[in-house]
Amino acid sequence: MPGLSHRICVAPMMECTDRHQRYFMRLITRYAVLYTEMITVAALLNGDRGRLLRFDRSEHPVALQLGGSDHVNMASCARLGEDFGYDEININVGCPSPRVSAGRFGACLLYEPETIAECVAAMCGAVDIPVTVKTRIGLDRDESATRLYELVGLAGQAGCTTFIVHARNAWLDGLSPKQNRDVPPLRYEAVHALKRDFPQLEIVINGGIRDMRDVRGHLHHCDGAMLGREAYANPYLLIDVDREFYGADGEPQTRAAILRRLLPYVERQIAEGVPLSAITRHILGLYRGRPGARVWRRKVCEGSRVPGAGAATLREIASLVEEWTPPARRVSV
Ligand SMILES: Cc1cc2nc3c(=O)[nH]c(=O)nc-3n(C[C@H](O)[C@H](O)[C@H](O)COP(=O)(O)O)c2cc1C
Repeated sequence: MPGLSHRICVAPMMECTDRHQRYFMRLITRYAVLYTEMITVAALLNGDRGRLLRFDRSEHPVALQLGGSDHVNMASCARLGEDFGYDEININVGCPSPRVSAGRFGACLLYEPETIAECVAAMCGAVDIPVTVKTRIGLDRDESATRLYELVGLAGQAGCTTFIVHARNAWLDGLSPKQNRDVPPLRYEAVHALKRDFPQLEIVINGGIRDMRDVRGHLHHCDGAMLGREAYANPYLLIDVDREFYGADGEPQTRAAILRRLLPYVERQIAEGVPLSAITRHILGLYRGRPGARVWRRKVCEGSRVPGAGAATLREIASLVEEWTPPARRVSV
């Protein structure tokens, strides 16, 4: 079975895909590639590296996403990531936030494909793990594929063989980062065409993918599919991906079994001083679409705030909800 295969990926999301969320996702899928939140080179070079880069060994395969544009700093940070044990370094060329653009990284780099290529070359020279790029299909109202093709052509020559493409333009002018995730129209055909025009490169499609039917459809045209918000809001959606896309055997785990496997981690983290809510905020969607889902969310939110709450609290709530959701009845995804 593959060590790092981008067939299914869980998108990098600030404030969401931290180490606790990734640990939890890994209990659901063994093989999907997990991404960190974007970490800027400035934070990494000047901040607490141990805190920023720390992850659990069970999270493999896990990719570190970097935000930056200075090739020397990007190469240094890629090396730090490799030294910490990450399986891949990903460059953020998709974030449309004005603060990020002011720092000259994220989506605005689609205006500077040479800068990305320079980063890719320096980073590939610095590490042995893959260096990948996550980008948008274009900028502002320009619906041509010119910038995307320039970027992919140059970064491809510089050593990047995997591109994750959010199938929307980023409108740097006039939309907030949140609006930029929904307002610019999805144009999947542009990503499918990119794969046809660069068949030698691995192209992973992202944006608005809601279920496994969507994933199957895209995999006729692209090498992989990346899910963001839906995977976060409804993590059990990924329960079948190991068997369907990675050839794994075995029965899918029930939600209750996943929770049972999470509890020792919860206990360890609490012993280290991590508040229960820092973990439980990522598991609120576990019962999404099931009877008891609302009670689960409410009780986990309330229970996590109680002083001294820990794994036992979670176990109690789970058994209450499980009484309403016989394990044999799994939601079909
Ligand atoms: C809360 C949130 C935070 C995000 N943070 C990042 C990030 O740090 N790096 C990045 O490349 N994309 C980030 N994104 C964009 C996602 O990776 C993804 O491209 C986008 O949500 C579209 O995929 P989806 O429709 O499956 O959610 C973020 C999205 C959300 C909703």
